[in-house]
Amino acid sequence: MRIIHTENYEQLSRQAANIISAQIISKPNCVLGLATGSTPIGTYKELISRFENKDIDFSEVTTVNLDEYCGLTPDNDQSYRYFMNTNLFNHVNVDMAKTNVPSGIADDPQAECERYDNLIESLGGIDLQLLGIGHNGHIGFNEPDDKFTKETHIVKLGDSTIEANSRFFDSYDDVPKSAITMGIKAIMNAKKVLLVASGKDKQEILKKSLFGPITPNVPASILQLHPDLTVVECE
Ligand code: GLP
Repeated sequence: MRIIHTENYEQLSRQAANIISAQIISKPNCVLGLATGSTPIGTYKELISRFENKDIDFSEVTTVNLDEYCGLTPDNDQSYRYFMNTNLFNHVNVDMAKTNVPSGIADDPQAECERYDNLIESLGGIDLQLLGIGHNGHIGFNEPDDKFTKETHIVKLGDSTIEANSRFFDSYDDVPKSAITMGIKAIMNAKKVLLVASGKDKQEILKKSLFGPITPNVPASILQLHPDLTVVECE
């Protein structure tokens, strides 16, 4: 595991963008696993500016996102599809047909979970997976549990996650109570994992995840077993 401690959020964002840029440059047709949340926003801004400077090219890149809220249509401004379009995809030359976010409105959610895993497998897995971390140690929407769930699955969101994410909604009641998330298998099968964590409030869960016991009660702790994990953090 490599931990890059940075002085501030701007530096964190540049470092994370360096690692993602290196991946795109070394393998232009790579599969990037992407994340939402407030932490990667600066990283996406950096990637956009590198694209504008013609330093990186997304034309052959395929993306697979970690998760989506159940019940939100792609054009809902709180959906993760909308987040990805507005924070990255609309500003770079990625082929929209090669961007993938699980659907939160599938008629058959279980079939959607299977479709998503098959899709990742058919792409040959993920080259670089970007992750944020929730205050309870969730990655994607893999919430604390008594077991790790390997496959893409529907998850009931925990109160602390709903509470934390309510800052983006008008009220707690507006936050969807369930989500579809990539499972631990596709994340752990990624060739490289890049975890970004920003702020004093993330330090405790970060320590627990990286140095504490490996347990499904702290989903991010499984990353200790990943052979190529880079953590970029700032307080
Ligand atoms: C959401 C996402 C996670 C993300 C987490 C942390 O719950 N599903 O993928 O890591 O938020 O978000 P933030 O970076 O805003 O703290």
